[in-house]
Amino acid sequence: MPQVELRNISKSFGSVTVCHDVNLIIEDRAFVTLLGPSGCGKTTTLNMLAGLEDPSAGDILMDGQRVNERSPVDRDVAMVFQNYALYPHMTVAENIGFTLRMRHMGRGEIRRRVEEVARSLELGPLLDRLPAQLSGGQQQRVAIGRALVREPRVFLFDEPFSNLDASLRIRMRAEVKELHQRLGVTSIFVTHDQEEAMSISDQIAVMSKGRIEQFGTPEEVYARPATRTVAAFIGNPQIDLASGRVEHGADGLICRVGEAELALPAGTEAVAGQAVEVGVRSEHVQLSDTGAAARVRLVQPVGPATHVTLDWAGGTLTATLPGIARLAAGSATAFAIAPENLLVFDPDSGKRIGGRTDA
Ligand SMILES: Nc1ncnc2c1ncn2[C@@H]1O[C@H](COP(=O)(O)OP(=O)(O)OP(=O)(O)O)[C@@H](O)[C@H]1O
Ligand SMILES: [Mg+2]
Repeated sequence: MPQVELRNISKSFGSVTVCHDVNLIIEDRAFVTLLGPSGCGKTTTLNMLAGLEDPSAGDILMDGQRVNERSPVDRDVAMVFQNYALYPHMTVAENIGFTLRMRHMGRGEIRRRVEEVARSLELGPLLDRLPAQLSGGQQQRVAIGRALVREPRVFLFDEPFSNLDASLRIRMRAEVKELHQRLGVTSIFVTHDQEEAMSISDQIAVMSKGRIEQFGTPEEVYARPATRTVAAFIGNPQIDLASGRVEHGADGLICRVGEAELALPAGTEAVAGQAVEVGVRSEHVQLSDTGAAARVRLVQPVGPATHVTLDWAGGTLTATLPGIARLAAGSATAFAIAPENLLVFDPDSGKRIGGRTDA
């Protein structure tokens, strides 16, 4: 039985609808991320799960039971917010144990739980400190500890690392993932950072304008994006898209972009004459002597790879080459893309109509 389910959930504030018919099934012990740009409805969705907002329509189920009318406390979820204000006059131990004291749990039991949580978060030596005496990452761990100590059935995280600096974010990401691997508590995590979502999740719900565009594993949303929006949101460097028209080539359908011709993947649902958009990820662009003509615009080595920006008939394109590539800006070149690495989208609906249908 899925542990958490959203069925046909819509949410309006006055005349503005911010969630449209959201459906989501989250399995027991899964780590699921809601990913999307600012304002797409992530926090609203999470708040409805937590019981902090009422849906305008639809059902929220936990363990198969409808919980729409249940209060946040009775849903057995714990939420970690972006602004995780700790009580400044309480020690780490008091902060972590606070909700248990509010529930009138016995002192011994509180101490046992706080110490256990502190151990798992490596906060043991810090239990007597005040929040002001902690680093940002340590404070964040106390906030997680405060949620963890309640032993909830479901964890909800709303951009919990957004106030941390870049290196700490990456460390906290790993810590939360390890914690999930160890404890296996079903977790729903909100972020607008696609790399964070990719690195931490079992599954990602990519949201746009109050809708779920795609729900899949990181591998699925990256390699087989359902829509152009998903393709463009996931991946760094960003996917390159170009507009073209379908023609019959020597060995099947091609996409013509100015003078250039790109072979379309087998199974593309398009006919000659149709306008399409083609997309390619930078690691699938190969520089070659034959192929589509291009000019090197920019060469950016980043250590393990070099990002090369090309100008071509379709606009600009990034090729990621292994190691340090020695290329001169301004030089003429050409590139090839294996047909199976091309993604094809319908320009009107934005839906993918070709590529990566093999798996
Ligand atoms: N109480 C409210 N009243 C009216 N509009 C609201 C309210 N709460 C949220 N909204 C609107 O609903 C939309 C979705 O907001 P939400 O906070 O869910 O976005 P988000 O995806 O979490 O964005 P961010 O990444 O910026 O946190 C936004 O357009 C927002 O302005
Ligand atoms: Mg938000």
